[in-house]
Amino acid sequence: MTNRTRILTGITTTGTPHLGNYAGAIRPAILASRDSHADSFYFLADYHALIKCDDPLRIQRSRLEIAATWLAGGLDVDRVTFYRQSDIPEIPELTWLLTCVAAKGLLNRAHAYKASVDKNVEAGEDPDAGITMGLYSYPVLMAADILMFNAHKVPVGRDQIQHVEMARDIGQRFNHLFGQGKEFFTMPEALIEESVATLPGLDGRKMSKSYDNTIPLFSSAKEMKDAISRIVTDSRAPGEAKDPDNSHLFTLFQAFATPAQADEFRSELLGGLGWGEAKNRLFQLLDNELGESRERYHQLIERPADLEDILQHGAQKARAVATPFLNELREAVGLRSFVNQVQVAATTKKKAAKAARFVSFREDDGSFRFRLLAADGEQLLLSRNFADGKTAGQVTKQLQAGQALDIRPADLSFSVWLEGECVGDSPAFADAAARDAAIAALRVALTPVQE
Ligand code: TRP
Repeated sequence: MTNRTRILTGITTTGTPHLGNYAGAIRPAILASRDSHADSFYFLADYHALIKCDDPLRIQRSRLEIAATWLAGGLDVDRVTFYRQSDIPEIPELTWLLTCVAAKGLLNRAHAYKASVDKNVEAGEDPDAGITMGLYSYPVLMAADILMFNAHKVPVGRDQIQHVEMARDIGQRFNHLFGQGKEFFTMPEALIEESVATLPGLDGRKMSKSYDNTIPLFSSAKEMKDAISRIVTDSRAPGEAKDPDNSHLFTLFQAFATPAQADEFRSELLGGLGWGEAKNRLFQLLDNELGESRERYHQLIERPADLEDILQHGAQKARAVATPFLNELREAVGLRSFVNQVQVAATTKKKAAKAARFVSFREDDGSFRFRLLAADGEQLLLSRNFADGKTAGQVTKQLQAGQALDIRPADLSFSVWLEGECVGDSPAFADAAARDAAIAALRVALTPVQE
């Protein structure tokens, strides 16, 4: 269990998965999760969905459909941690801790935000017209998703690489500010699957909802068939040789076929197979490949309570990691229980005591003296003169012995007394406040450390 690679990715819940999503992201992720070295965290990025969508029904539907799609596609929830972002309250909490260290200048450079600004400027609008803080802070929320679980690898599309880099940047900054040598956060790496198919859509452009050229995944056999019938082809008649390498219908076929099946289809096209028949072949292939999953999908959708249970269980698994980790992070930034305050103060004293130091020296007249210097080198006390080193040493010991200190302020300085005898004086301070601060520092420096 220890040396597994933690792979984490989120799916924004604003739409219904189509064939392109399946081939490009869902199928490879499910396959990757079966690797025995993989410790996969997959989640529904529904907080991110709120940034792009203010239609509650659509959010609700999409979460259900995406959850059902991944499960129907064969995701094994005993192997992976599958959850909804919004079921993990530690994520928005971490988002705030990270927001407080994230440089605004870094977020100004985010592509998505910049694109919106550019669009506004071009349209002669206020640069920030219609831009929410959600859009602006999108990368910080995403950084929290990733850093919360110390992911090593983050499979994403190219458009998300910058966000993973920002997560590294923000995480590093947090480590540096609060880690005291400890690396709280693992530095994540974006994982771009070069070999994974970007499917062409009906018109040959990349399959995407924004081009309205998608083939539905699990809706119904009929809808899939209808979409396939709308795939744009050239006008070559049946009997004429087709050019498979310039046919996105062939590309779609290839993405789901074995090499042998693809070879056969290729020769049939070269041999003059009609486009209508070719579309039937593609439908048959996809129906064989996806028919069973489609059935599972509809069973799942009809049992939302079961889906809810599965996701709650996933949230439990995720929180078993997130809750203790966030507690550590809260401690690190100073959000600590008052009950532990004594101990914390002791730590401070310990440091101060360690840092404050006595420096002894000898005067020209042969007498012994010492200075007490604060951590920053400021002189807190200069002793009176002692006849021999032994006496001077005893005085420094007594000062550190933990007895109530007899400190007597006098104008802009103070003196320290032991058994009715003045043993040292402070320098003169700029004002009474500086004098009192020095007295406080002296008390801290001279308080013995309790282990
Ligand atoms: N922003 C990602 C996308 O639109 C989704 C996402 C949210 C994500 N949080 C993430 C991906 C964390 C990877 C890791 O595709």
